[in-house]
Amino acid sequence: MKLEVLRYPDPRLRKKGLSVKEVTDEHRTLVHNMIETMYDENGIGLAAPQVGQSLRLLVIDTRPIDEDEKPTTEGLTELEKKVKQPIAIFNPEIVVQKDLTDYEEGCLSVPGFFETVERASYVEVKGLDENGKEILIKTDGLLAICLQHEMDHLEGKLFIDRLSFIKSNKIKNKIKKSGYPTPEEVVEERKKVRELRAERRANTSAPDKKK
Ligand code: NI
Repeated sequence: MKLEVLRYPDPRLRKKGLSVKEVTDEHRTLVHNMIETMYDENGIGLAAPQVGQSLRLLVIDTRPIDEDEKPTTEGLTELEKKVKQPIAIFNPEIVVQKDLTDYEEGCLSVPGFFETVERASYVEVKGLDENGKEILIKTDGLLAICLQHEMDHLEGKLFIDRLSFIKSNKIKNKIKKSGYPTPEEVVEERKKVRELRAERRANTSAPDKKK
């Protein structure tokens, strides 16, 4: 079942998620619905507070989609390839983080807006999988960035809160004044950002500098 994704400035996005003591069937249904919603919205991650559930739960799938709409591992780092996706993780906690990187981030709760955010480039995140089993994810690349972005949601924090005061206010005022762009405009904006990212990759490639 597809769920409604809340948008900034919905106050429910500001609530801290509660720890999950025991993973139940109800939680597994939520995981299933969140993954369906994430795919349907063309997102790469979704946190429970974004669908109005104040829980420490997030789902992620950062794999690119090929022309046949199938997920591929093309462009993923070696570490990312080792992580089975989609991921569902309860009570995620960063146990190790290293180095810095930045990326043009967007969010399903702030559709159509993208800005560069700085994050750790390598993280180790522990938590529980959908069977309640302890897992440890060690990754870099987009998956590391996405994990940190989604974990912010569990603290009631959005990527626009991580921008400079000026940049953040520009986005907030635009939303206040003219609301969100149409779904078509969001697609256009996403395309532009994708090109920008590809350009950046081309400029910074040569031997892989991220470690
Ligand atoms: Ni988000």
